Amino acid sequence: MKIKVIQADAVQHETPALVVNLFDGVTIPGGATGAADAATGGLISRLIADAEVRGKSGEITVIHTPSSAFPDCAPQRIIVAGLGNSPDFNYESIRRTSAQVARRLRSLRVNKAATIVHGAGAGGLDPARCAEAIAEGALLGLYKFDKYKSGAGVNGDDANGNGDLLEELEIVEIDPARIPALEAGAGRGRVFAEAAIFARDLVNEPPNVLSPEELARAAAEMAGECGLKADILDAGQCRDLGMRAFLAVAQGSARPPKLIHLTYEGDPDNPGNNLWLVGKAITFDSGGLSLKSPAGMITMKGDMGGAAAALGAIKAIAALKPRINVHVLCAAAENMPGGSAKRPGDVVQAMSGKWIEVENTDAEGRLTLADAIAYARSKSAARIVDIATLTGAVNVALGKGHTGAFSNNDELYEAVSRAAATRGEPVWRLPLDPVSKRQNNSRIADLKNTGGRDAGSITAAHFIAEFAGDTPWVHLDIAAMVMSDAMRGVNVQGATGIPARTLVQLALDLAENSKP
Ligand code: BES
Ligand code: MN
Ligand code: ZN
Repeated sequence: MKIKVIQADAVQHETPALVVNLFDGVTIPGGATGAADAATGGLISRLIADAEVRGKSGEITVIHTPSSAFPDCAPQRIIVAGLGNSPDFNYESIRRTSAQVARRLRSLRVNKAATIVHGAGAGGLDPARCAEAIAEGALLGLYKFDKYKSGAGVNGDDANGNGDLLEELEIVEIDPARIPALEAGAGRGRVFAEAAIFARDLVNEPPNVLSPEELARAAAEMAGECGLKADILDAGQCRDLGMRAFLAVAQGSARPPKLIHLTYEGDPDNPGNNLWLVGKAITFDSGGLSLKSPAGMITMKGDMGGAAAALGAIKAIAALKPRINVHVLCAAAENMPGGSAKRPGDVVQAMSGKWIEVENTDAEGRLTLADAIAYARSKSAARIVDIATLTGAVNVALGKGHTGAFSNNDELYEAVSRAAATRGEPVWRLPLDPVSKRQNNSRIADLKNTGGRDAGSITAAHFIAEFAGDTPWVHLDIAAMVMSDAMRGVNVQGATGIPARTLVQLALDLAENSKP
């Protein structure tokens, strides 16, 4: 979809549909909504008086305004989007509204529409960031994964032959002085959305197609296009580095593992100013010999969602060019129960030198992360954020409202938490308490890879913490967030791309705060 910013008086602008808005409880609309009301002879205030339009969040009212009946109103339709209660209103409200409106326009088969800048008037928000949220929300909300639907994309049609693509969205602003900032904002919104969309595409790709090798190829291809450095290490190189925990996970699969390392050099003179994004990259998690149930296995193509988010993020970071060095590291493997698979009871030595007892082969993510984090530390990582679909238990603890977060460093945690809130992908911190830490004690090795039923997300985090050591580190358990079962806000059914946009925001914020 094309997004343009144009200077015009909204009600005098010819378009198939103009989107205006209304806060909950407003009886006399102002701004552009007021102008649309006047141009339609008070039609909107009449609908408000009749309580057909109330301004509730999620409410979308489509009013046909043909020029024969409404000569003062150039748009063929006026769409009133409810913005909800004004005290609760923020940029996430705009993203959500923009996503919902874009989907409604698409289902109406409107292929071109215009919108006013929600939030910049009565909402009192920064106009450029409002335009950013409109672009970000619309692009995320319209996302579809239909490459395996025969017929999709032909003549702009969907898989059912319906010409249902919204091809162009115009952001209309009357004040010419505001246009450049709005254009920059809309451009940033696209970059952020495309970070999540890149991640979604990788997660939605079926696991027969997306092997560790294919993930490495896709990462290297993107790196080439974005001017990033790409190092892809094979199993032999990983063995030479001593990454036995990572390789133990891969050994049950016929498909070879790959260690993917992408680098963005935004501050080459200060190599210490760096951020390492370590993404869990299990392209399919069968559980290994500790085999999952069919119901538990069906979503396990998404077990590389952490890697996908990190890769999407660095793509956007390459475009936005913050002054910080960003590394993405993904230890990609398939967790399978082949004849050479690791066994429950195996003991392996990780790159750090620690011996790990593999109690359950389905707790494979932490084994790969242990070695990935050791690798990052061997390269002088100053800050590590790992992103992993690590435990089903995080869904029990927090549900789908928050990503679970753990950290050994309050400052880095706060930075991640702020970035996440800014992008509407909130995190919630869970403790790394000494009581649950003991659950990882092994009888025969330094530690074991499972800590029992209690506090499953916390014991998983404790395991990783052993390898992060004293390097500032945040662990994000995204197991409950990686896929959405329904269309909700900026998400559609399938992969969400969470937390790619948060990671981009984090890199921008860290760069901003480390300015000399
Ligand atoms: N990839 C899974 C976690 C997961 C579960 C992700 C559901 C997304 C949705 C992970 O590798 C796993 O299997 N974890 C086990 C750990 C257990 C064996 C200690 C789990 O959560 O059951
Ligand atoms: Mn598993
Ligand atoms: Zn897994």
